[in-house]
Amino acid sequence: MNTIIPESKISLRNLNKSFGNKIILNNINLTIQKGESIAIIGESGTGKSVLLKCIIGLVQPDSGSLSIDGKEISMMTHKERTMLNSRFGVLFQGGALFDSLTIWENISFGLLQEKKLNKKNAKEKAIQIMSEVELDASVSNSYPSELSGGMQKRVALARAIATEPEILVFDEPTTGLDPITSNVINDLIIKSVRVLGATAISVSHDISSVKKIADSVAMLHEGRFVWQGSADKIEKSQNDYVTNFINGVSNNQSLPSSRP
Ligand SMILES: Nc1ncnc2c1ncn2[C@@H]1O[C@H](COP(=O)(O)OP(=O)(O)O)[C@@H](O)[C@H]1O
Ligand SMILES: [Mg+2]
Repeated sequence: MNTIIPESKISLRNLNKSFGNKIILNNINLTIQKGESIAIIGESGTGKSVLLKCIIGLVQPDSGSLSIDGKEISMMTHKERTMLNSRFGVLFQGGALFDSLTIWENISFGLLQEKKLNKKNAKEKAIQIMSEVELDASVSNSYPSELSGGMQKRVALARAIATEPEILVFDEPTTGLDPITSNVINDLIIKSVRVLGATAISVSHDISSVKKIADSVAMLHEGRFVWQGSADKIEKSQNDYVTNFINGVSNNQSLPSSRP
Protein backbone atom coordinates (compact mmCIF):
# COMPACT_ATOMS: atom_id res chain seq x y z
CA MET A 1 0.00 0.00 0.00
CA ASN A 2 1.32 3.37 -0.95
CA THR A 3 -1.47 5.43 0.57
CA ILE A 4 -0.10 8.59 2.13
CA ILE A 5 -2.00 9.65 5.21
CA PRO A 6 -1.37 13.39 5.41
CA GLU A 7 -2.21 13.81 9.08
CA SER A 8 0.18 11.08 10.28
CA LYS A 9 2.80 12.51 12.59
CA ILE A 10 5.22 9.59 12.57
CA SER A 11 5.33 6.84 10.01
CA LEU A 12 7.59 3.78 9.98
CA ARG A 13 7.66 1.62 6.86
CA ASN A 14 9.58 -1.65 6.63
CA LEU A 15 12.05 -0.45 9.22
CA ASN A 16 14.93 -2.79 10.02
CA LYS A 17 17.61 -2.72 12.67
CA SER A 18 20.12 -5.38 13.61
CA PHE A 19 23.05 -5.35 16.00
CA GLY A 20 25.66 -7.73 14.59
CA ASN A 21 23.70 -10.73 13.36
CA LYS A 22 20.91 -10.20 15.87
CA ILE A 23 17.76 -8.84 14.23
CA ILE A 24 16.05 -6.42 16.60
CA LEU A 25 13.46 -4.67 14.39
CA ASN A 26 12.21 -6.83 11.53
CA ASN A 27 10.33 -4.85 8.87
CA ILE A 28 8.40 -2.73 11.33
CA ASN A 29 5.35 -0.75 10.13
CA LEU A 30 3.65 1.78 12.36
CA THR A 31 1.67 4.96 11.87
CA ILE A 32 1.14 7.41 14.70
CA GLN A 33 -1.42 10.15 14.13
CA LYS A 34 -0.96 13.73 15.26
CA GLY A 35 -2.16 14.08 18.85
CA GLU A 36 -2.34 10.31 19.38
CA SER A 37 -0.96 8.74 22.54
CA ILE A 38 0.37 5.28 21.74
CA ALA A 39 1.91 2.72 24.07
CA ILE A 40 4.44 0.14 22.93
CA ILE A 41 4.38 -3.03 25.01
CA GLY A 42 6.43 -6.21 24.89
CA GLU A 43 8.83 -8.34 26.88
CA SER A 44 12.21 -7.06 28.01
CA GLY A 45 14.82 -7.12 25.31
CA THR A 46 12.39 -7.09 22.36
CA GLY A 47 13.61 -3.77 21.02
CA LYS A 48 11.16 -1.25 22.45
CA SER A 49 13.91 1.16 23.49
CA VAL A 50 15.74 0.61 20.21
CA LEU A 51 12.54 1.54 18.37
CA LEU A 52 12.19 4.75 20.39
CA LYS A 53 15.86 5.55 19.79
CA CYS A 54 15.35 5.15 16.03
CA ILE A 55 12.47 7.62 16.20
CA ILE A 56 14.42 10.21 18.22
CA GLY A 57 17.53 9.77 16.07
CA LEU A 58 19.87 8.13 18.59
CA VAL A 59 19.97 4.88 16.63
CA GLN A 60 20.29 4.71 12.85
CA PRO A 61 17.93 2.17 11.20
CA ASP A 62 19.62 -0.18 8.72
CA SER A 63 16.87 0.20 6.11
CA GLY A 64 13.27 1.24 5.64
CA SER A 65 11.48 4.53 5.91
CA LEU A 66 10.96 6.75 8.93
CA SER A 67 9.12 9.99 8.36
CA ILE A 68 7.91 12.73 10.66
CA ASP A 69 5.29 15.19 9.41
CA GLY A 70 5.68 13.48 6.04
CA LYS A 71 9.42 14.23 5.86
CA GLU A 72 11.79 11.34 5.41
CA ILE A 73 14.42 11.42 8.17
CA SER A 74 17.21 9.87 6.11
CA MET A 75 16.87 12.69 3.56
CA MET A 76 17.29 15.43 6.18
CA THR A 77 20.38 17.56 6.43
CA HIS A 78 22.23 17.69 9.75
CA LYS A 79 20.65 21.08 10.43
CA GLU A 80 17.14 19.82 9.72
CA ARG A 81 17.71 16.81 11.98
CA THR A 82 18.98 19.07 14.78
CA MET A 83 15.89 21.24 14.43
CA LEU A 84 13.71 18.15 14.50
CA ASN A 85 15.43 16.97 17.69
CA SER A 86 14.32 20.12 19.48
CA ARG A 87 10.70 19.13 18.78
CA PHE A 88 11.08 15.97 20.89
CA GLY A 89 10.78 15.73 24.65
CA VAL A 90 12.21 12.50 26.00
CA LEU A 91 11.96 10.74 29.32
CA PHE A 92 14.64 8.05 29.10
CA GLN A 93 14.36 4.63 30.70
CA GLY A 94 15.61 4.99 34.26
CA GLY A 95 15.29 8.79 34.13
CA ALA A 96 18.89 9.36 33.02
CA LEU A 97 19.29 12.64 34.86
CA PHE A 98 22.64 14.38 34.85
CA ASP A 99 24.11 13.53 38.27
CA SER A 100 26.41 16.52 38.38
CA LEU A 101 23.73 19.08 37.52
CA THR A 102 21.21 20.47 39.99
CA ILE A 103 17.49 19.85 39.55
CA TRP A 104 16.83 23.19 37.87
CA GLU A 105 19.86 22.74 35.60
CA ASN A 106 18.60 19.30 34.59
CA ILE A 107 15.15 20.66 33.79
CA SER A 108 16.41 23.67 31.89
CA PHE A 109 19.08 21.75 29.93
CA GLY A 110 17.12 21.99 26.67
CA LEU A 111 16.08 25.57 27.39
CA LEU A 112 19.71 26.62 27.70
CA GLN A 113 20.91 24.51 24.74
CA GLU A 114 18.09 24.94 22.25
CA LYS A 115 16.00 27.90 23.26
CA LYS A 116 19.10 29.90 24.19
CA LEU A 117 17.53 31.32 27.34
CA ASN A 118 19.87 33.06 29.73
CA LYS A 119 20.53 31.41 33.10
CA LYS A 120 18.18 33.59 35.13
CA ASN A 121 15.23 33.09 32.77
CA ALA A 122 15.99 29.39 32.44
CA LYS A 123 15.94 28.95 36.22
CA GLU A 124 12.66 30.85 36.51
CA LYS A 125 11.13 28.71 33.78
CA ALA A 126 12.50 25.53 35.42
CA ILE A 127 10.85 26.47 38.72
CA GLN A 128 7.56 27.15 36.92
CA ILE A 129 7.72 23.70 35.30
CA MET A 130 8.57 22.16 38.67
CA SER A 131 5.26 23.42 39.99
CA GLU A 132 3.48 21.84 36.99
CA VAL A 133 4.85 18.44 37.99
CA GLU A 134 4.19 19.23 41.66
CA LEU A 135 7.81 19.49 42.73
CA ASP A 136 8.60 21.95 45.47
CA ALA A 137 10.85 24.82 44.38
CA SER A 138 12.95 24.21 47.50
CA VAL A 139 14.65 21.25 45.76
CA SER A 140 15.71 23.30 42.70
CA ASN A 141 19.31 23.49 43.92
CA SER A 142 19.49 19.85 45.05
CA TYR A 143 21.18 17.08 43.07
CA PRO A 144 19.28 14.07 41.66
CA SER A 145 20.86 11.64 44.17
CA GLU A 146 19.26 13.62 47.01
CA LEU A 147 15.74 12.92 45.68
CA SER A 148 13.49 9.84 45.94
CA GLY A 149 12.80 7.71 42.84
CA GLY A 150 9.36 9.26 42.40
CA MET A 151 10.75 12.80 42.61
CA GLN A 152 13.49 11.92 40.13
CA LYS A 153 10.80 10.77 37.67
CA ARG A 154 9.03 14.11 38.13
CA VAL A 155 12.31 15.87 37.30
CA ALA A 156 12.75 13.64 34.22
CA LEU A 157 9.18 14.47 33.17
CA ALA A 158 9.75 18.18 33.78
CA ARG A 159 12.90 18.04 31.63
CA ALA A 160 10.96 16.27 28.86
CA ILE A 161 8.20 18.91 28.73
CA ALA A 162 10.36 21.99 29.40
CA THR A 163 10.84 22.98 25.76
CA GLU A 164 7.12 22.46 25.04
CA PRO A 165 7.80 19.72 22.49
CA GLU A 166 5.37 18.43 19.86
CA ILE A 167 6.34 14.81 20.39
CA LEU A 168 6.77 13.28 23.84
CA VAL A 169 8.60 10.00 24.27
CA PHE A 170 8.39 8.16 27.58
CA ASP A 171 10.48 5.01 28.05
CA GLU A 172 9.10 3.11 31.04
CA PRO A 173 8.12 6.22 32.98
CA THR A 174 6.67 4.30 35.95
CA THR A 175 8.92 1.23 36.13
CA GLY A 176 10.27 0.81 39.65
CA LEU A 177 7.71 3.09 41.24
CA ASP A 178 5.07 2.05 43.76
CA PRO A 179 1.45 2.06 42.47
CA ILE A 180 0.54 5.35 44.13
CA THR A 181 3.55 7.23 42.77
CA SER A 182 2.97 5.55 39.37
CA ASN A 183 -0.54 6.96 39.35
CA VAL A 184 0.72 10.44 40.13
CA ILE A 185 3.26 10.22 37.28
CA ASN A 186 0.60 8.87 34.90
CA ASP A 187 -1.73 11.75 35.78
CA LEU A 188 1.09 14.22 35.17
CA ILE A 189 1.88 12.55 31.83
CA ILE A 190 -1.77 12.80 30.76
CA LYS A 191 -1.89 16.45 31.83
CA SER A 192 1.38 17.31 30.05
CA VAL A 193 0.33 15.62 26.82
CA ARG A 194 -3.02 17.42 26.94
CA VAL A 195 -1.61 20.84 27.78
CA LEU A 196 0.99 20.61 25.02
CA GLY A 197 -1.39 18.94 22.56
CA ALA A 198 1.54 16.63 21.89
CA THR A 199 1.80 13.30 20.13
CA ALA A 200 3.02 10.77 22.72
CA ILE A 201 4.81 7.44 22.48
CA SER A 202 5.24 5.51 25.72
CA VAL A 203 6.87 2.20 26.50
CA SER A 204 5.37 0.50 29.51
CA HIS A 205 5.15 -2.91 31.16
CA ASP A 206 2.26 -1.90 33.29
CA ILE A 207 -1.17 -2.49 31.75
CA SER A 208 -3.00 -0.19 34.18
CA SER A 209 -0.60 2.62 33.16
CA VAL A 210 -1.08 1.79 29.48
CA LYS A 211 -4.85 1.99 29.80
CA LYS A 212 -4.53 5.30 31.58
CA ILE A 213 -2.07 7.13 29.40
CA ALA A 214 -2.57 5.66 25.92
CA ASP A 215 -5.29 5.74 23.24
CA SER A 216 -3.76 2.88 21.32
CA VAL A 217 -1.35 0.03 21.94
CA ALA A 218 1.10 -1.88 19.78
CA MET A 219 2.74 -5.04 21.01
CA LEU A 220 6.26 -5.85 19.86
CA HIS A 221 7.42 -9.46 19.83
CA GLU A 222 10.53 -10.87 18.20
CA GLY A 223 11.04 -7.80 16.06
CA ARG A 224 7.49 -7.43 14.78
CA PHE A 225 4.21 -5.96 15.91
CA VAL A 226 1.93 -8.88 16.78
CA TRP A 227 -1.09 -6.84 17.89
CA GLN A 228 -2.37 -3.29 17.57
CA GLY A 229 -5.59 -1.94 18.96
CA SER A 230 -7.20 0.60 21.21
CA ALA A 231 -6.02 0.69 24.82
CA ASP A 232 -9.48 0.13 26.28
CA LYS A 233 -9.82 -3.12 24.31
CA ILE A 234 -6.52 -4.59 25.42
CA GLU A 235 -8.00 -6.98 27.96
CA LYS A 236 -10.46 -8.30 25.36
CA SER A 237 -7.89 -8.61 22.59
CA GLN A 238 -8.14 -12.43 22.35
CA ASN A 239 -4.56 -12.32 21.16
CA ASP A 240 -2.37 -14.95 22.84
CA TYR A 241 0.68 -12.70 22.97
CA VAL A 242 -1.23 -9.88 24.60
CA THR A 243 -3.06 -12.19 27.00
CA ASN A 244 0.20 -13.82 28.07
CA PHE A 245 1.84 -10.44 28.48
CA ILE A 246 -1.00 -9.20 30.69
CA ASN A 247 -0.86 -12.40 32.74
CA GLY A 248 2.91 -12.18 33.09
CA VAL A 249 3.60 -15.33 31.08
CA SER A 250 6.65 -15.36 28.83
CA ASN A 251 5.60 -15.49 25.19
CA ASN A 252 8.81 -17.28 24.29
CA GLN A 253 7.97 -20.19 26.58
CA SER A 254 4.28 -20.44 25.92
CA LEU A 255 4.20 -19.92 22.18
CA PRO A 256 7.23 -21.87 20.93
CA SER A 257 5.74 -22.55 17.51
CA SER A 258 4.69 -18.96 16.94
CA ARG A 259 7.57 -18.33 14.55
CA PRO A 260 8.27 -20.32 11.43
N1 LIG B 1 23.70 -0.24 21.10
C1 LIG B 1 23.47 -1.56 21.12
N2 LIG B 1 24.38 -2.44 20.67
C2 LIG B 1 24.12 -3.77 20.65
N3 LIG B 1 22.96 -4.31 21.06
C3 LIG B 1 22.02 -3.48 21.52
C4 LIG B 1 22.20 -2.07 21.57
N4 LIG B 1 21.09 -1.51 22.06
C5 LIG B 1 20.23 -2.52 22.31
N5 LIG B 1 20.78 -3.70 21.98
C6 LIG B 1 20.14 -5.01 22.08
O1 LIG B 1 18.90 -4.92 21.43
C7 LIG B 1 17.93 -5.71 22.09
C8 LIG B 1 16.72 -4.87 22.41
O2 LIG B 1 17.07 -3.92 23.40
P1 LIG B 1 16.04 -2.86 23.99
O3 LIG B 1 15.42 -2.10 22.87
O4 LIG B 1 16.78 -2.08 25.01
O5 LIG B 1 14.95 -3.79 24.66
P2 LIG B 1 13.64 -3.37 25.46
O6 LIG B 1 12.49 -3.92 24.67
O7 LIG B 1 13.76 -4.07 26.79
O8 LIG B 1 13.63 -1.89 25.59
C9 LIG B 1 18.61 -6.29 23.33
O9 LIG B 1 19.02 -7.60 23.04
C10 LIG B 1 19.80 -5.38 23.50
O10 LIG B 1 20.85 -6.07 24.13
MG1 LIG C 1 13.81 -0.63 27.16
